[in-house]
Amino acid sequence: MSLRDRLKKPGVSQSGSSFGLDANSSHASGNAQTSFGSLSSAGYGNTSPGSTGAPENHSNQPKKGERFDEVKTKVHNMLVENLNITSTDVLSKNDVSLAAYQFLEKILMAEKVPMGTSERAMLIQELVEEVVGLGPLEPLLRDPTISEIMVNGPKNVYIERMGKLHKTTVSFKDNAHVMHIIERIVSAVGRRVDEKTPMVDARLKDGSRFNAIIPPLALDGPSISIRKFKADAGTLEKLLGWGSMTPAMAKTLEAAVKCHLNIIISGGTGSGKTTMLNSLSALIAPDERIVTIEDSAELQLKQEHVVRLETRPPNIEGEGQITARQLMINSLRMRPDRIVVGECRGPETLEMLQAMNTGHDGSLTTLHANTPRDAIARIVTMCMMNDNPLPEKTIRQQIASAVHLIVQVSRLMDGQRKTTSISEITGMEGDMVTMQEIFKFEQYGLDENYKVIGRHVATGVRPRFADICKAKGIELPNNIFERDDSPPPEVK
Ligand SMILES: Nc1ncnc2c1ncn2[C@@H]1O[C@H](COP(=O)(O)OP(=O)(O)O)[C@@H](O)[C@H]1O
Ligand SMILES: [Mg+2]
Repeated sequence: MSLRDRLKKPGVSQSGSSFGLDANSSHASGNAQTSFGSLSSAGYGNTSPGSTGAPENHSNQPKKGERFDEVKTKVHNMLVENLNITSTDVLSKNDVSLAAYQFLEKILMAEKVPMGTSERAMLIQELVEEVVGLGPLEPLLRDPTISEIMVNGPKNVYIERMGKLHKTTVSFKDNAHVMHIIERIVSAVGRRVDEKTPMVDARLKDGSRFNAIIPPLALDGPSISIRKFKADAGTLEKLLGWGSMTPAMAKTLEAAVKCHLNIIISGGTGSGKTTMLNSLSALIAPDERIVTIEDSAELQLKQEHVVRLETRPPNIEGEGQITARQLMINSLRMRPDRIVVGECRGPETLEMLQAMNTGHDGSLTTLHANTPRDAIARIVTMCMMNDNPLPEKTIRQQIASAVHLIVQVSRLMDGQRKTTSISEITGMEGDMVTMQEIFKFEQYGLDENYKVIGRHVATGVRPRFADICKAKGIELPNNIFERDDSPPPEVK
């Protein structure tokens, strides 16, 4: 059986990677339909960063000849015409690239186009990625040093690497090409994107979070944001190594988790909330039953006794939604020792507070706020997102008795992520929730490279919970809370 026949035969299965081609199309950017199964088989981390198109790697790319795009389009059309495949067929990248090589040889011979080996290899790779994968996004997804990918229309593709944004040399052919990749991803999770539903969230097979928003809402063409899945989720050791906190802060947080304090992690977008939540959750004892609730599973708990719950958005008909609040209520019937909520965004916050107040001590969550004080205001607002909201003062009282600690994380001007405050809630004074800061990050200025100059300091306050810890056999030495009175680093 020739390769061509083999490829034509329906249902031929060679690998776990599934895709199908839309035989009616001849669009150069690839009108292939694929389930994103192809993404997971892309072999993350196998490629040298040399092919990512990210800025510092630009020079490693082989040069594209004049007729590169024209030849690529021809090979693509031949693939589409000859691989007469229905959407249920399963083929591997190897098969497609084999066939593509053959067609390429043919075209180069017939048209007498010169093309070097590395240029040929690049053409085939791009083509295969367009036909079975996610096109120009594939090399970016494979590069483990990239944490986020942002596509603002076809010609502006940005990445985040080590906390810094960079523009890449990667581009799409046109708006239709970007749309095509978006459709390929969302159709694989049973959703669709069109004028009626112009915003969509999905999770890629490798765990990365995907969001797309298209015209008319996105004015400059379809836009994609991908938050890459991190294989290693974060531990206190890592955070220490990154300089996000001091050993004294790590010790304090460790004691707080082990003593079942209720902890809120507060921070802006991309400030490191989930990383902190993962790091703290890792300290929960292996014999505790943990229930996690998330909109999109990011937590990576190593403990055995974990039940992971995920919310569900409504389907195309607008039905079947399961909210965080519903999961929160259900989780209380599951006899959890700890409830870990990925992020409180709405009315589930009230249930979370009540759970914290009624014997589910040691619960952890994150929320979006810029200071510990803002975090309290945010909890109040979210608890009021109810049909019959409690009076504000009652909510504040609940916060004062339920929440023990607020850990503030921030992304500084220079891209560094720091734990900028650890504050203890101490009670109420009149209508106000009172708290005291135990540790903070003091910022003094910027150096000549615009890097933030600052340091973590203890405020000199010994937290009240240190006594609870002591009663549970965890001793926090007094000296870790002592103020460092040495002069701050000099700023020129
Ligand atoms: N202390 C840190 N130092 C360096 N990078 C960090 C730190 N904390 C988090 N990150 C990285 O920053 C990015 C965003 O972190 P994440 O925890 O997902 O933020 P959030 O949940 O607040 O949106 C991730 O790539 C993560 O690995
Ligand atoms: Mg997060």
